[in-house]
Amino acid sequence: MDAISALHGRVSIATLGQPGPTSEQLDIMLRAAVRAPDHGVLRPWRFIVLQGSEREALGDIFVQACLRSAPDSDTETLEKMRRAPLRAPMVVVVIAETDPDNRIPLTDQLLAAGAAAQNIMLAAHALGLGGMWRTGDMAKNTLVKERLGFAEKDEIIGFLYLGTPTGSIKRVPANDPARYLRALPQ
Ligand SMILES: Cc1cc2nc3c(=O)[nH]c(=O)nc-3n(C[C@H](O)[C@H](O)[C@H](O)COP(=O)(O)O)c2cc1C
Repeated sequence: MDAISALHGRVSIATLGQPGPTSEQLDIMLRAAVRAPDHGVLRPWRFIVLQGSEREALGDIFVQACLRSAPDSDTETLEKMRRAPLRAPMVVVVIAETDPDNRIPLTDQLLAAGAAAQNIMLAAHALGLGGMWRTGDMAKNTLVKERLGFAEKDEIIGFLYLGTPTGSIKRVPANDPARYLRALPQ
């Protein structure tokens, strides 16, 4: 698929099944990620790739985080959290390992890691895979960050769910870019 078709045609796919990305496809996606624009060449992006039973470890972390922040969470909620990472064969957690003391603004560091995440999503689409970028409460949870090996200053940019699309793929919604154009104020 050419680059413009990938850019214009990407849609999120929430229902994902086997097979997950091959190791070759993963390598292609990660190589795309590390070509993201990066102010100051800080390389703030970090990736944790979870497949198979490794996803269960993330589910356990979600449950622990849920219990820490809401100790009286009901079984249904906890079970939903436990199963969340099983929604796709592969989950790539993208984290910005930030340097708050660097002259490069924090926002730029976060945006660089976000651009890396988007490069993964676009590469996945170009490879014929499906993907969904999720965050939610767990991405902001300190215990989750800690258990993933990161510090409070770092940010989980997203949980990228990747696999083979199951079911129908939604059409690209019409969205005229002209709606978002603004003239310079006089
Ligand atoms: C940073 C970020 C976080 C997101 N988190 C969630 C999420 O937690 N749950 C969700 O349903 N969609 C989330 N989304 C939105 C979906 O990934 C997706 O973009 C949206 O459903 C629109 O679909 P489209 O990408 O096909 O236009 C997030 C998107 C971004 C950029």
